[in-house]
Amino acid sequence: MSETEMDQPNQAVNPLGVARLAFIGCGVMAEAIIAGLLRKQLVTSDQIVGSNPRVARREGLFAKYATRMFESNREAVLAAQPSNNSSNGSLVILAVKPQRLNKVLLELKGAIHPEQLVVSIVAGARSEAIAEALLHPAIVRAMPNTPAQIGQGMTAWTATSEVNETQEREAGALFEALGKAMRVENERQIDMATALSATGPTYIFLVMEALVDAGVHLGFSRHMAQDLVQQMMIGSVLFAGESQKHPAELRNMVTSPGGTSAEAIYQMEKGSLRTVLSKAVWAAYQRAEALGKKS
Ligand SMILES: NC(=O)c1ccc[n+]([C@@H]2O[C@H](COP(=O)([O-])OP(=O)(O)OC[C@H]3O[C@@H](n4cnc5c(N)ncnc54)[C@H](OP(=O)(O)O)[C@@H]3O)[C@@H](O)[C@H]2O)c1
Repeated sequence: MSETEMDQPNQAVNPLGVARLAFIGCGVMAEAIIAGLLRKQLVTSDQIVGSNPRVARREGLFAKYATRMFESNREAVLAAQPSNNSSNGSLVILAVKPQRLNKVLLELKGAIHPEQLVVSIVAGARSEAIAEALLHPAIVRAMPNTPAQIGQGMTAWTATSEVNETQEREAGALFEALGKAMRVENERQIDMATALSATGPTYIFLVMEALVDAGVHLGFSRHMAQDLVQQMMIGSVLFAGESQKHPAELRNMVTSPGGTSAEAIYQMEKGSLRTVLSKAVWAAYQRAEALGKKS
């Protein structure tokens, strides 16, 4: 495809309402968003550009998604600037690791077009700090989680007051390409979501691992225990979602007097499972808050 063709994104397929997107740092999360956007046909690959320092990664992404890749972050941002004849917006998505962010912001200082929206998924980085470093006030800050990689993510996001309604809609649609999205009120709630839904998969994986080990302890082979536990967890979550009943009600439905559930629940309460989970979430929240203050 020629450079000129690249500059004229296909506007026919554009339910996202965005003409161009630039991904700065194309690792796991950026790829999850790119794959989700293309899978849902919200944009076409010629609307997406990305930057990454490693040539093998750039070539790999170009081969897989046909997205134009740059070594320079600044060039990627410039390549995604809104064109004069389009009312559709342009997004710059910051998806580098937190420790790389300051260097990247320095490179991008002054390069963001006034009408571009900056979306940061960088853990712990405050919108105010990003806005100051970029000299650009329109910032959306989001916190996705790892199931986003299969389109089953939960993303909490918030926006600075300079983000307009159209840009808010575009950001919401972007995150919905990853699964579900929730607009929260402020960055404190982003830290809260970091502790609950973004760190959450690690709690579930630990519980999953412990239950599989318990199955092996009982005498099941590991793969049998894994299948039993995995489907039980998927089914329980879907059942809870569909039934719309309180978890305690669902639990009571299967807890017969003197039965197996009653016996197991007694042991879990004795072992303070609820308190341990609550303390874990609280500790993760405090950590998220502390990381934000450092940035
Ligand atoms: N993974 C999650 O579940 C999750 C959830 C919520 C938020 N986040 C946030 O999302 C961000 C990205 O996470 P990730 O898991 O996608 O990390 P990742 O896979 O390491 O992706 C980061 C990418 O940035 C590239 N990079 C390194 N230095 C760069 C530079 N100077 N300029 C441009 N790109 C550069 C890396 O390239 P190389 O591979 O060549 O080093 C890598 O491809 C992080 O800030 C993280 O806090 C992640």
